[in-house]
Amino acid sequence: MSVAVAAGAYLHHIELESGDPAALADFYGRAMDMAVEHKGENWICRGPARVMLFKKGKANKLGYAAFACRDEEALETLRAHVQKQKVAIIPSPSTQFDKRAFAVQDPEGNRMVFGVANEPMDPIRKRGPIHGPLQHVTVTSTNMAAIEDFYANKLGFAVSDRVRNDQGAVTTCFLRCNHEHHTVAIFLKSEAGLDHHSYEAGEWGTIKDWADHLGSMRIPIVWGPGRHGPGNNLFIFIKDTDGNMIEISAELEVVHDRPVKEWKHEPYTLNMWGPAIMRS
Ligand SMILES: [Fe+2]
Repeated sequence: MSVAVAAGAYLHHIELESGDPAALADFYGRAMDMAVEHKGENWICRGPARVMLFKKGKANKLGYAAFACRDEEALETLRAHVQKQKVAIIPSPSTQFDKRAFAVQDPEGNRMVFGVANEPMDPIRKRGPIHGPLQHVTVTSTNMAAIEDFYANKLGFAVSDRVRNDQGAVTTCFLRCNHEHHTVAIFLKSEAGLDHHSYEAGEWGTIKDWADHLGSMRIPIVWGPGRHGPGNNLFIFIKDTDGNMIEISAELEVVHDRPVKEWKHEPYTLNMWGPAIMRS
């Protein structure tokens, strides 16, 4: 049962660790058009429907990813499901959610938090910063079967698409916890870690606005523009000061009800327009 989908969970905020969280926060403030605040060595960047936190630690490490459920009842249903699956529940590390929130660790040690937003996100585009709600996070794994089982069966995400190599092994799995094609994706790689996170600009023209904004700051696009096969989304990628990959996406598929799609492991699947960054 896709309990996480029923909870209408969406990616609300992410914490990244860094050797220099101040520099990283400054970059996100400028590049991703967010206001920067800090308390000691904890930095927070806020923009419309996007919140990023930065903490002193190991560069390129995901501190945690936090998902907001549609309401408290949905959060409690999800918590009961997770407990029934015998997943250990750990205290929420999030400073943005209240005490109702809980956290779990996936098989690669990534912490995922579920809570309820105190101030609901308002993704409606108004005048002001460029549109781009925080939308998905992707990680790499050495054990695709275990990590898919965790997200799909233990947490109740739904699998949208899988990519398989010629031997039939899954090399990418896309999972959702609402109508968005993926809110989490997992890439097979020789090393587990953070792969990238993404902001959904919605429309192609808004990607142009982002590219002009980034260009004015001499922040280069490192991959794209292109179109992914799974999710059908348009994309550009940039790198932050720690080398973390940031995606700005548009036209991400909205999934209501359809069977899981399977894709061939080849560059075309990752980028129908040109070169691909293959993780395995
Ligand atoms: Fe992505």
